[in-house]
Amino acid sequence: MATNSGLFSRNFKKTFPVAVRGEGCWIIASDGRRFLDASGQAAVVSIGHGVQEIGRAMAEQSSQIAFAHTSQFHSAPAEKLAARLLALAPANFRNGGRVYFTSGGSEATETAIKLVRQYHLETGQKERYRVLSRRQSYHGSTLGAMSVSGNVARRAPYEPLIADWGHIAPCFCYHCPFEKTFPQCELACADDLQAHLDGNKKSDAAAFIFEPVVGATLGAAVPPDGYVARIAEICRKNGILLIADEVMTGLGRTGKAFAVEYWGVEPDMILVGKGIASGYAPLGAVLVSARVVDAFERGSGAFMHGFTYQAHPVSTAAGNAVFDYLESHKLFERVNPAGRNLREALTSLLAHRHVGDVRGLGLLLGVEFVNDKTTREPFPKSENIAEKIRQACLEENVLTYPTQGCVDGLRGDHILLAPPFTISPEESAQIARAIRSALTKVFQV
Ligand SMILES: Cc1ncc(COP(=O)(O)O)c(C=O)c1O
Repeated sequence: MATNSGLFSRNFKKTFPVAVRGEGCWIIASDGRRFLDASGQAAVVSIGHGVQEIGRAMAEQSSQIAFAHTSQFHSAPAEKLAARLLALAPANFRNGGRVYFTSGGSEATETAIKLVRQYHLETGQKERYRVLSRRQSYHGSTLGAMSVSGNVARRAPYEPLIADWGHIAPCFCYHCPFEKTFPQCELACADDLQAHLDGNKKSDAAAFIFEPVVGATLGAAVPPDGYVARIAEICRKNGILLIADEVMTGLGRTGKAFAVEYWGVEPDMILVGKGIASGYAPLGAVLVSARVVDAFERGSGAFMHGFTYQAHPVSTAAGNAVFDYLESHKLFERVNPAGRNLREALTSLLAHRHVGDVRGLGLLLGVEFVNDKTTREPFPKSENIAEKIRQACLEENVLTYPTQGCVDGLRGDHILLAPPFTISPEESAQIARAIRSALTKVFQV
């Protein structure tokens, strides 16, 4: 256990095991303990841990040319990966779209916010700057990304530093903010975007950013049919861009290359991160549609933005090697069957009096714990149920991703499960057993 190292750890009151090795869905710590990685380390690891080919591809690239600044050079791995991502994306990206690589999801969100602003300048709409988003959402931890994120607890300490460009209602049927039921609700949560635009200064609205399936903050909440299409229609009608944040859902996690494919919409930008390099290198990207690229090409020709490490040759080499592995092992195809398996194992937990909901898409699944199943009443925040479940699962050597706040930004406890796509039926059963045993421990009194 590392207690007093020089690392500025995530939590000084906790001790952390030291990870020394990975094998498939397992992480091995320095004390020999083996942990089943049920959350893919925050929905990152798709191909599994310890795949030797990825390290070899990175070493090979590093031995050729490890770094060349993007103001002076392009690199072959970055160009190759951009082409592969665009080929997977919706049709409006395939002919004339481009990819802006970053070192992670938050940088991708920052980049998108600035792309939106400059797009409107390039097209002569100088007033537009507000990027609208939803409550109980998460788009990253830098200040721009936090401005569009809507999680009350995560925003609270930084309120003086972050902008408020406008948040609409989340799309969350299990705790509908309008206390309605689908389909009688007629998608009131999507219409909240139009209501916001009508009730505020419309001419400065610039874009709407959303997670197609809300990961960290709502525990894999999937929108009902028609929601994403209605949102896209409102964006088009009001001249604002649509950004799909697929940092968690992209690259196969939900069973399609990009989750927006489920609803057939064509956003103006798609953000990716996490699964793009499966954790083997820090990498993220903004996929920019042809329409937005065209505005830059016809306009100033240069985006006023940049990171030293954007489109890093070694990180994009890792991305290509991960892509090769996903393709050669047919891992995209594994997500839906493996997801059904894990979901089935988790569904048995619904018999417990405090398991309110099991939800999700593909291998992005959530389990929500409630105080009262009939009313869906959450536990008081102070009981810290999600964290207690995480701790009890850890005692069973199973790693989960807990979050509080899904109901109103403060209350509401869930864990997120997003294992590598290689998860076996036996490992899925082990995850469900660990959660069952955690429930017994946490709710024994
Ligand atoms: C939907 C979404 N967007 C953005 C981010 C931020 O990505 P990163 O932590 O790589 O900066 C995350 C991270 O959890 C995320 O889930």
